[in-house]
Amino acid sequence: MLNIVIFGAPGSGKGTQSELIIKEFGLDHISTGDVLRAEIKNGTELGKTAAGYIEKGQLVPDELIIDMLAGVLDSKEASKGVIFDGFPRTIPQAKALKAMLNERGTDVTVMLNLQVDDEELVNRLLERGKVSGRSDDNLETIQSRLEVYHNQTAPLAEYYIQEGKHEAIKGVGTIEEIFNRIKKVVASK
Ligand code: AP5
Ligand code: MG
Repeated sequence: MLNIVIFGAPGSGKGTQSELIIKEFGLDHISTGDVLRAEIKNGTELGKTAAGYIEKGQLVPDELIIDMLAGVLDSKEASKGVIFDGFPRTIPQAKALKAMLNERGTDVTVMLNLQVDDEELVNRLLERGKVSGRSDDNLETIQSRLEVYHNQTAPLAEYYIQEGKHEAIKGVGTIEEIFNRIKKVVASK
């Protein structure tokens, strides 16, 4: 199986590049952000809890996310591989992912770390906020998402370096240029 963790700050292009990777490599896509937004739309208990965190730009607690991820992963049993978008975001989530994949006889193949500076991230997200309808695409929440990313999520790069799975990808340029960088790395795995 080809299991890819696509990693990077808010607005770094995880969702955009995931769509291209899925088409090229025939993978399933799990975006924890998309799953949470669907839960909110459907008015579930999980959605009601998650909404408060998302609006503030905070992380939803690990236990809730890990349980949710396990459920979605079970629904992808027959897949050629999965691209994990926006998960893991903490060390406990990374350890839980490894355990879940190991139980299923597989592991993370590679972690792609999209690198984009904060100024570009804010510009992209403010631009998207004009049309996205996302409750977290406003300047105040964008700033707290970036702070949470730098403090709580970016340190995970070190975990994947230790695992020998980390690949830095320059995340600026055209969408196609970035995808070409990703393809080269994935094809070598
Ligand atoms: P999530 O949905 O994962 O959002 P995020 O990490 O903030 O990232 P985005 O989806 O905003 O950006 P992206 O990297 O996908 O970029 P995109 O391709 O859209 O999480 C939302 C919230 O849910 C979290 O804050 C948290 O509360 C909660 N959550 C989710 N997962 C969790 C977890 N595991 N644990 C705890 N809580 C969790 O691109 C952005 C924009 O830029 C788009 O408009 C795009 O068109 C544009 N763009 C893309 N590429 C380029 C390019 N090369 N040049 C110019 N523009 C570009
Ligand atoms: Mg996204």
